[in-house]
Amino acid sequence: MENVLVTGGLGFIGSHTVVELIAQGYKVFIADNLSNSKIEVLDRIEKITKVKPEFFNIDLTDKEKLFNLFSTYNLDSIIHFAASKAVGESVQKPLLYYKNNLSSLINVLECCRELKVNNLIFSSSCTVYGQPDKLPVTEKTPKQQAESPYGNTKQVGEEIIEDYCNSNVDFKAISLRYFNPIGAHDSALIGELPLGIPNNLIPFITQTASGIREKLNVFGGDYDTPDGTCIRDYIHVVDLAKAHIAALKHANSSKVNYDFFNVGTGKGHSVLEVIQTFEAQSGMKLNYEIVERRPGDVEKIYADTTKMNQELGWSAEKDLNDMISSAWKWQKSLIKS
Ligand code: UD1
Repeated sequence: MENVLVTGGLGFIGSHTVVELIAQGYKVFIADNLSNSKIEVLDRIEKITKVKPEFFNIDLTDKEKLFNLFSTYNLDSIIHFAASKAVGESVQKPLLYYKNNLSSLINVLECCRELKVNNLIFSSSCTVYGQPDKLPVTEKTPKQQAESPYGNTKQVGEEIIEDYCNSNVDFKAISLRYFNPIGAHDSALIGELPLGIPNNLIPFITQTASGIREKLNVFGGDYDTPDGTCIRDYIHVVDLAKAHIAALKHANSSKVNYDFFNVGTGKGHSVLEVIQTFEAQSGMKLNYEIVERRPGDVEKIYADTTKMNQELGWSAEKDLNDMISSAWKWQKSLIKS
């Protein structure tokens, strides 16, 4: 059985990936400092999988604790999610973001080097492309200057990993550039748990529909898109979780040291389309208003997923209806609990 350390394994994407890893027979170790996740998620994972992964409440900026974990267990691979991810906050607190996201990555890589763990999957983002000139975005699309310290940590994070791969022929790493992960596990036992007022569209919609927020502000109605609102490539979090397992298997057998892949569906949907899908799925009318654009938003972006499809044999199975209905089922289960 392969031992996989999942950092940030109690978070939104991390927890769904842990469930898929266990289903595929991996032994999972989770390191999470609970800064943006809840310990109850561990019990939820156990409910779904009937397996309780080993859990360590560790801040990855603490190298000594991380090293102890690495040296106690015979780890084969690392999936590194743990990071701060609020774009606006990163503009206010850049040093916090550079410290959290980059020093933790360096600690992970140093522990890998010191204990000869040779596989890493890195949680990156389509934010590395900025607003591309041509759509869909392929992996060859040039990266653009990051719009925020958060975005920069993903760009620099990828570069750090690539440089390290170049220095160590035995080390294999893959960056997955996620588009917009949404939705929740079918069981409605795990899903997205935003702290405070959500920044992202889907939790804001489901919280508005359940009365936690009064109204959704749609940021901008005058973009150069068919209905004037921004276009994104939304991807079901369970499909995304499965992409990590495909990447892990690929990294193991690949001749290439370092590689990177887009993970999306290849389809773009506007904010209004998302709202209409929500209304159709829930049978509710959503209270929303079109307001000013949000600074830093790109107009439209969606992925070319050919590389992921051909080289990793992965493709998204779920559509926008599945994503929205599972997110809504999850939100309703939260109201009850
Ligand atoms: C954002 C980040 C991205 C990050 C990702 C993490 C920005 C510019 N980008 O992606 O770097 O990787 O979150 O999850 O912040 N919207 C509304 N009203 C809302 C919220 C969102 O209209 O209350 C719109 C946005 O303008 C956008 C779309 O919904 O057009 C999706 O927004 P969001 O869910 O925040 O994701 P991104 O901005 O694409």
